[in-house]
This record gives sequence, C-alpha cells and structure tokens, in this order.
Amino acid sequence: MFYRPPPLQAMHNIADFEAAARRRLPRGLFEYIARGAEDDLAVRANRDAFEDIRFRPRVLADVSRRRLDARVLDRQFALPLGVAPTGPPSFLWYQGELALARAASRMAIPMILSSASAMSMDTVMRSGGEGAKWFQLYMSGDRALSLALVDKANRVGFDALVFTVDSIVSPNREFAARSGYTVPPKINPRIAVEALASPRWLAGTIGRYVLEGGLPAMVDYPLPDPRDPLKHGIPPKDDSISWETLRTIRKAWPRKLIVKGILDPRDAMACADAGADAIIVSNHGGLVLDGAMATIDALPAIAESVGERIEIYLDGGIRRGSDVIKAVALGAKAVFLGRALLFGLAAFGEAGVVRALELLRAEMDRTLASLGCSAVGELTRDHVVLPGDRYAQRS
Ligand code: FNR
Repeated sequence: MFYRPPPLQAMHNIADFEAAARRRLPRGLFEYIARGAEDDLAVRANRDAFEDIRFRPRVLADVSRRRLDARVLDRQFALPLGVAPTGPPSFLWYQGELALARAASRMAIPMILSSASAMSMDTVMRSGGEGAKWFQLYMSGDRALSLALVDKANRVGFDALVFTVDSIVSPNREFAARSGYTVPPKINPRIAVEALASPRWLAGTIGRYVLEGGLPAMVDYPLPDPRDPLKHGIPPKDDSISWETLRTIRKAWPRKLIVKGILDPRDAMACADAGADAIIVSNHGGLVLDGAMATIDALPAIAESVGERIEIYLDGGIRRGSDVIKAVALGAKAVFLGRALLFGLAAFGEAGVVRALELLRAEMDRTLASLGCSAVGELTRDHVVLPGDRYAQRS
C-alpha cells in the first residue's frame, strides 16, 4: 500500500522522476510544485510551445568530437544549464537547498539560491560544494531590509545577484487554498491524512526537522523575523518596484546582475540600459500570471533586439535535453531548470538531481550530434523550425 521507491537506475527521463516524486510526496505538496496559478494555462503553454518546435538537422558534419560546455558571465561551465531558484526546497527533501547546490557543483553548473530559501546563504555557500552560486532577490515592502540582503549576499561571496521582477502580487493558487498547502500551512484533516499516507516523506524530511526542534524558517527573506511566514504568512512583495529600483540595485551590487522575469523585448532593452549583465526570459514557471506567453515563444524577438548587448537565459518547461538545444538555437546562452530538478530532489535527494542532470546531458549530446553540431556554440536559428516557419513554407 505504501510507496516503495523504485531504484534510481529505473529513472530514464524527467517524466520518470515526476512520477516518483508524485508517489513520495503528499498530494497537496506535489501539486504545490507541479502546478501553476489559476488554470495552469501558462504551465501548459511553456510545454506546448517547446513541443511545437521541430529540428532541421544537417548531416555529414563529423561530430565525433563533441562538447557541451558553455561560457556564462565570463565563466566556463560544463553545460549550458543552471538550477533555478525554487523557494524552500527543504520541504521536499531534508536540507534540499544543500542537495541542489552540491549536485550543481558536481555537475559544474551554477545554482541560484532563492530569497525564500529555508537554509541560510552562509550554510549553502559553506557546505554546498565549490560550484558557482548566485543569490535571487525579492524586493519586500521594506526596501532597507531587501538592500541589507543584497549586502549580505555580497559579503557571503555570491557571484551574481538575480533580481526577480515578475512576482509582485501574491499568486492565485486556488488548489493550494483548498488543500491547505499554503504559507503558513492550514493543518486540516486532509493534510494530516495525506501526510500519513506519505511515510517516507513524513519520516525522512519533516520528522528530521521535528527531531531537530522545528520546521525550517525562511532565514534570509527580507523580513524582521524570519519565523514570521510560518506564523503569519508571506507579506506582500513590493508592487512599487520600477526601473529606478533596478538602478538602485545596480549601484548597490558590485558583481554580475541578472534580471529574472522578462518577456518583452522593450523590457529586455531597458534592463541593458540600466546596466544589467543578463536577463532570464521567464514567466516564473507559470506560477504567477496565468495566460502569460510561453517563454520559448518570447525568446526569438528578445534575442534579436538585445542579444548583442547582454546575455540571455531562459527558464520554463524544460523537461528534455532537446528543449535545451531548442532554446540555445533560438538565442539563449543557458537555461535554468525548476521543476525538472525538484522532481529529482523530491524522489531521491542529491543523487536524483545528479541523475536528472546526467539524463538531460545525454539527451542534449544526442540531439546536438543529430543536428550536425559539435558544440553548443554552433547552434543557430536555422536548426529549428517554428510553427510560423511551417505556415510560411506551406503558403
Ligand atoms: C519557483 N520559482 C521561483 N522563482 C524565483 O525567482 N524565486 C523563487 O523563490 C521561486 N520559487 C519557486 C518555487 C517553485 C515550487 C517553483 C516550481 C518555481 C520560479 C523558478 O525560478 C523558475 O522560473 C520556474 O520554475 C521555471 O519553470 P520550470 O522549469 O519549473 O518549468
């Protein structure tokens, strides 16, 4: 009756990890990571848009010496991939942030730690392996507290700051309001029954925190008391942020600055004007604005307008190595992975994240070879066929 985990070797793609995560986690918690806002339109759009892109391969190109490394923000990484910030992953796996950071370090890719992390910046920097670490910032209503976090991220030694600009109101997640998986959680009979039906999660994750004296708090969220969210909920984010705010952050942060949550080329251009080093084309994984356009649909116009001025990355809906290749062909220097790695984490911890990344790497390598390319830098717009190209060809 209870879930017995399959062996890690039985995981052959991200969908396998998703199924395993679904079985280990309580239902409401699985929905919390897998679903988006309102009707999940933006979550589906991200996937549908990737599935609608086809490849146009070249042949006889001697691809016997292939490499997948990528240069991102003046640093060489093993893959054009990174770990997206995803709130407090410690609720999925004991010390989940550390597991993600260590897996990223082992695979030589960057990891972005969320402001809403349940482990402190210092701990993740100290114990999360040697790999590159970036810190993601939410502006809260209290600007001084947010800027103090920027200072702390600098002192702790994060390589880059990622300012998330697309999440300024609380998302409408009706399923979470129903299931009780909110912050703070509304402990109700349904949550209790679901938790008891997930004994491995209950004992292996929550039980360990209880033995240590309590659930983790959002230690580096810009709040006077980091225990507040679990008691009173997450306070509203700052909906007055503007280009002026970005310029203030630019002045306060001495290293690389990335703006996350861009879908319009005009905003991409304004980020470059404000001194950002890079942007992440993102709709927050469909978690905030339902009906937002798919990120891969937004990429080509953005790459065309600012691709020469700043680096462009993308996240949203990446579940296959071929998705990564499509994004790179359309102008992304790297892509970031949210749920794909959360599923690996929730099912198997650090080992699951590493295997998920290894599977994506193998898929990327196969796709690259089949396109007649030996390195990701050789990918071009000509390697992909967008839905619009198909209609143009038919007429
Ligand atoms: C997120 N995301 C997110 N983004 C951010 O800037 N700060 C955060 O704390 C979070 N938290 C968070 C929690 C969960 C459970 C999810 C699924 C996502 C958004 C995240 O960084 C990224 O934009 C998306 O996850 C990308 O889409 P995929 O890869 O999940 O489809």
